[in-house]
Formats: sequence, C-alpha cells, structure tokens
Amino acid sequence: MRRTNMIITIDGPAGAGKSTAARMLARRLSFEFLDTGAMYRAVALSALRAGIELRDEPALARFVRGVSLEMPAGLVLLDGADVSVAIRSQAVSDAASLVATSPAVREHLVHLQRIIAADRNIVCEGRDQGTVVFPDATCKFFLIADAEERARRRHRDLAVRGEAIDPATLMETLRRRDRQDATRPVGPMKAADDAIEIDSTGLSSEQVVERMEAVVLSRRSPA
Ligand code: DC
Repeated sequence: MRRTNMIITIDGPAGAGKSTAARMLARRLSFEFLDTGAMYRAVALSALRAGIELRDEPALARFVRGVSLEMPAGLVLLDGADVSVAIRSQAVSDAASLVATSPAVREHLVHLQRIIAADRNIVCEGRDQGTVVFPDATCKFFLIADAEERARRRHRDLAVRGEAIDPATLMETLRRRDRQDATRPVGPMKAADDAIEIDSTGLSSEQVVERMEAVVLSRRSPA
C-alpha cells in the first residue's frame, strides 16, 4: 500500500553531521525526528550494564527482546530512565558499533523504527534507513565529510562532555567504526541507489540543511 506520510532518510558515517542536519531539517518542515544511532547506543549501554558479552549473538538476541526502549521527542528512555547523555560516551560508541553487527539486534530495532515512523512525517537518520528500513522513503540523503573533519567534530562533542581523547586515537577509532559499519553482512552503512549524496566538508549545518530542504520541497506533492 502507498504511504500517505512522508519519510526522509539521512544516512552516512559518524561525524558527517547527520544528527544536526536531521534535527534542523525536521524543525524547518515541522516533521518529527528519529535518531536511530541512539537506539543502538541504548541497547549497547543496557548490555554493558547487564554484563552481556557483546559478541555472543544468542545472548544478545535473548537480551534485546527484553530491553524497554522508548524514543519520545528528543529523549532516549531505557527502562523508563533518561539515558540521552549516558549513551554519548566513547565506550558506548565502541560498544554500539559492535552491537549493531548483531542480526537479532538489527531485526528488533528495524521493527521498532518502522512502528515509530508509521503514519508520521519524519526525518530518520542512521546507516540503513534509505536501504533497509524505509526503501520507499520520499527523499534519501547520504551525508559524508572528510575523515579529518569528522574526527574534529567528534573531538569537539566529546570535549563538551568532558571526555578528552587525543585526535590520533579518535581518528583511528572513527576509521575502525566506519569499517565495521560498512562491512557487516546485515544492514551495512551504504548509500541507497536513489540517495542524494551531500559532502558536508567545509559547509555549515545551515548550508547542508538548505540543500536538503530544497530537494524535499521540490518533491513534495502539491496540496
Ligand atoms: O550514529 P551513531 O554514531 O550514534 O551510531 C552509533 C552506532 O550504531 C554506529 O556504530 C552505527 C550503528 N548504527 C547502525 O548500525 N544503524 C543505524 N541505523 C544507526 C546506527
């Protein structure tokens, strides 16, 4: 059946500016916004706290079914508690990339993402939104940026949290996550064939969003 709601997907590597762009675009269009990376992060945090071995697929598969995850506007609730800040640590970033290789975790979260987006006008950002989760999305973007710039942005974000990681280590971690995200067999990070690629290197968030908004408006069917 044809959708009557409008879904916009933004995929791409860590630090390309997806979250900021998705949030700003959603605000401009009066759409909702879904940060699917936060969902993988929340599952990773929950598994770390429970002492689950992150490479143990059967254990993760059992575990994820019992995780209570809610994504009300701008928040991430794990078992009812707000973990929006706790999921942003470097340890959780590393664990999330690993947990995201689990087919059972992906299946569970993809299902949840489709439920959340059903009947809503929404901007969804992640790695597999345009390819796997919403292949019928109205507009698909794949946002990229130079690795150096992505590492700089990530360094700034972590510094705000009081986490100091030297730039060389950060760059190596970023490359490892990119590799892991792009080469996993299930739901790898990949541009959909019909995605529009935008390189945010040297662009402000406003410039990125203006480009996206122009595409979206050109595709909006007349009322
Ligand atoms: O975008 P992020 O850094 O918050 O994502 C955290 C991890 O989750 C990242 O390593 C990739 C993974 N992820 C994924 O596999 N699929 C998504 N749709 C979103 C994130």
